Amino acid sequence: VRQQLSVNGRTVDVDVTGLMPLSTVLRDQLGLIATKVACGRGECGACTVLVDGRARMSCTTPAALVRGPVWTSEGLAEESRDLREEFADRGAFQCGFCTPGQVVSAVALLREGIADGNEDERRRQVRHRMSGNICRCTGYQAIVDAVCTVSARRAEGSR
Ligand code: FES
Ligand code: FES
Repeated sequence: VRQQLSVNGRTVDVDVTGLMPLSTVLRDQLGLIATKVACGRGECGACTVLVDGRARMSCTTPAALVRGPVWTSEGLAEESRDLREEFADRGAFQCGFCTPGQVVSAVALLREGIADGNEDERRRQVRHRMSGNICRCTGYQAIVDAVCTVSARRAEGSR
């Protein structure tokens, strides 16, 4: 069935059958391969994209049910520039397979904002809100450090 989606700010025509996952449409029909598929069953967060501004696992989101704009890691490149630089500076990835999903989740989290002030509370919130993004390589410390640093810097910049 032909269907229109809004992806990274563009309206696109895609071909959707049955419960075809959004991740399949993004990768196979639109060539947006930054969205990774690892577990394929909603457990690891590698496939995270924004749907209507909220972080969603695209491997378990049927494309036919998507309403509202979809943003992938590619489309969020500009908004996530400081995050990606901080990930790189801190070595917050090794194989990098989970990284696009981590960055998309962090973009959503940073848009909503983190309760200001106490550094421990900031870390707790980042850990909690990114707990759906599994990384096999890093032990998470550098990922949490990177997101906390960007969060604090943006909060500082907006004052
Ligand atoms: S690939 Fe979608 S949650 Fe793991
Ligand atoms: S960097 Fe390898 S899974 Fe996260």
